[in-house]
Amino acid sequence: MSDNIPELPNYDESSLEAAFATLLQEVRQQTSALTTSDAREAFRLHWLGRKQGRLKLVSDAWLKSATPEARKPLGMRFNQLKQQIEQALEAPNAAPRAAAQGAVTVQGIDITFPGTVRRPGIAHPLLSAMHEVVRVFHHLGYSTNLGPQVESDFYNFEALNFPPNHPARDTQDTLQIAVQQSRPSRDRLLMRTHTSPVQIRTMIAQEPPVRIVIPGKVHRNDAADATHSPIFHQIEGLCVDTNITFSDLKGTLDHAMKALFGSAVKTRFFPSFFPFTEPSADVQISCIFCGGSGCRKCKHSGWIELLGCGMVDPAVFAAVTAERRRINPDDDAYNPEKISGFAFGMGVERIAMMLHGVSDIGHFYSGDMRFLEQFA
Ligand code: PHE
Repeated sequence: MSDNIPELPNYDESSLEAAFATLLQEVRQQTSALTTSDAREAFRLHWLGRKQGRLKLVSDAWLKSATPEARKPLGMRFNQLKQQIEQALEAPNAAPRAAAQGAVTVQGIDITFPGTVRRPGIAHPLLSAMHEVVRVFHHLGYSTNLGPQVESDFYNFEALNFPPNHPARDTQDTLQIAVQQSRPSRDRLLMRTHTSPVQIRTMIAQEPPVRIVIPGKVHRNDAADATHSPIFHQIEGLCVDTNITFSDLKGTLDHAMKALFGSAVKTRFFPSFFPFTEPSADVQISCIFCGGSGCRKCKHSGWIELLGCGMVDPAVFAAVTAERRRINPDDDAYNPEKISGFAFGMGVERIAMMLHGVSDIGHFYSGDMRFLEQFA
């Protein structure tokens, strides 16, 4: 290691450049030998030692005769050099390789260092389940709509025929946004409990025919367990046109379930209740694990419940019409005498769990690469 103070004949740009290049060259040459902690400590002392360190000796020598104007550029260059020394100390793993191969540097970049490997990503299993469902409906001529997760009471409940204080609201375990009491109840904000508010937003903005699917995140104040999570995902569907009947609903969902789970799958519809559909139904599919003969997954019933659905309630069309008439008082696009529609909603997690045989919903959110890598 050299202890000479390199010559600095004067403080112009090119002299500074040359003198610091000499020092940097020294640092670089020594860097390749920093393969042990002893070598690194010796290098650190040699350059950065507080009293006898080379940086200190050189800067003392050069600063002594520097004019006040020259001090600033000189100081800046010393700082840069110090950073380079510190960087050399911080890259211990790279050093042995560079040394072994003889470092080849191009403008300060050692091209013998290993590159940063970027591993190709994959869609999260929930996202790919969502895409699969959406694709089935795209093939039927549906398009996709999205809406906000922070929603107003009006879109999440009122326009969907959940009047204030209606018991059906209790089933939704709503997370309210704090400090809303001074607002009219329809404007109070909450985390949407389902994707159905986007039905309302869509119909207010657009005339029939409507054929949309609405994928998205929803929130409920539910305790987490193997099949529940307070944040989960739904896919909603809405079809409004002339002469839409319950048979259209049945045919559409039967086709979609066969497209998703295989053509052998059967569907069946049970009466149910949602405030925004009348009549309403729950849809079950024949168990995809046992083919319907009964197993643990279907609790030995042969059937698995997967969807809620129904014909759009005229009260929903009335709420939409009232909103549309605030802009055009003559609007009659959603007159239930002229049009009808159906809607359906399903949980994405449940579908992904079935498609992949996942038994605990928590795996989807844990970020555990051992789980996620299985979908690569
Ligand atoms: N929004 C309902 C829920 O979250 C599901 C649903 C959507 C039911 C559309 C019928 C029609 O429970």
